[in-house]
Amino acid sequence: MSLVRLDGVSVHFSLRRRGRGGGVVRAVDDVDLTIGEGEVLGIVGESGCGKTTLGRVIVGLQKPTFGGVIVRGEKRPLRQRPGANARRDGFQMVYQDAAGSLNPWKRIGWSIAEPLRNEGVKKSVMRRRVLELLEQVGLPDSMIDRYPGELSGGQQQRAAIARALAGRPRLIVLDEAVSSLDMSTQAQVLNLLKDLARQHSVNYVFISHDIAAVDFMSDRVAVMYLGKIVELENAHSKRKPLVHPYSITLRSAVPVPDPAVERRRNRIVLTGPVASAVDLPSGCRFHTRCPIAQQPACSDTEPELVDHSPTGLVACHFAGEFEARRAAAQNRAGAQSATGQNAAARNIETPA
Ligand SMILES: Nc1ncnc2c1ncn2[C@@H]1O[C@H](COP(=O)(O)OP(=O)(O)O)[C@@H](O)[C@H]1O
Ligand code: SF4
Ligand SMILES: [Mg+2]
Repeated sequence: MSLVRLDGVSVHFSLRRRGRGGGVVRAVDDVDLTIGEGEVLGIVGESGCGKTTLGRVIVGLQKPTFGGVIVRGEKRPLRQRPGANARRDGFQMVYQDAAGSLNPWKRIGWSIAEPLRNEGVKKSVMRRRVLELLEQVGLPDSMIDRYPGELSGGQQQRAAIARALAGRPRLIVLDEAVSSLDMSTQAQVLNLLKDLARQHSVNYVFISHDIAAVDFMSDRVAVMYLGKIVELENAHSKRKPLVHPYSITLRSAVPVPDPAVERRRNRIVLTGPVASAVDLPSGCRFHTRCPIAQQPACSDTEPELVDHSPTGLVACHFAGEFEARRAAAQNRAGAQSATGQNAAARNIETPA
């Protein structure tokens, strides 16, 4: 049985109610998604595509406008206060801003112990549990009496993870949890998270705009664009190349350690206008920026998320044809460059 299943989930925010003129933001739009027991699901996409909103729905902190959330086979009650659902299901969320989940006026030990107090854990046991948690996240005992402002960003993030683990959660949604840390601290915290997942049998949903971090952490990757999942890996397709043009664009930005391969790497730079979640484009939402968009198919008809074995599910009319179509576009651009019309060539860049 799956741990969580999202069934046609949409989250729409009305702007009128917030005094920002008319319109509706379709932050998440008709998403079906399953999180299996024991797996790490990665969600990647650029800022504003709906990752945090989707993560909050999974945890139970955001009610869907439409659709249902099924936790361990049982439909989650929508009438309850969202926080109550998160507690009932044993789900936690860790945000980018670690300091935000630690009370600045209270010592670190107090913040980590908060879920234990809610559980009614005795004071005599509590201190021991907090010290164990500090050790597990690689922080010295002395941190128990420090204030958040006295800790580095990496130490704060470790304390926030300890706090999330304190209530023995079934699932933690990590939302850009390492994005504000420097590269070496990021690597340490990512490795720590992997170890903790094994020790605590906790599931993660790992959300980031950084596809390299998502690839490293996740068993399966979901790629989001403007509220939709446009590509979803199969459980066993790990390390197969992603095939949606947007996924390929994201992966093309990741530097390769081998200098010879790195020199040949083609970074794809998107040039078209970024569409808005309030005024969505017709057809495929990515068509305004897609390097291989074909008219009228891409601007008229929205592609469905369908099986594209062995990778997984993909929403693109031309899934698997990226290289061939990009080469054709480059050839056309080359021919046109003589006449000064090399528009298509502008979105392909080879690093120096
Ligand atoms: N409470 C809200 N009210 C109105 N719009 C919102 C609200 N929360 C998020 N949004 C909008 O929903 C879209 C998705 O936001 P978000 O889920 O934060 O994306 P991401 O985490 O990928 O950056 C954005 O356009 C954002 O401005
Ligand atoms: S459907 Fe068309 S615009 Fe959308 S990703 Fe595929 S090729 Fe690009
Ligand atoms: Mg976010």
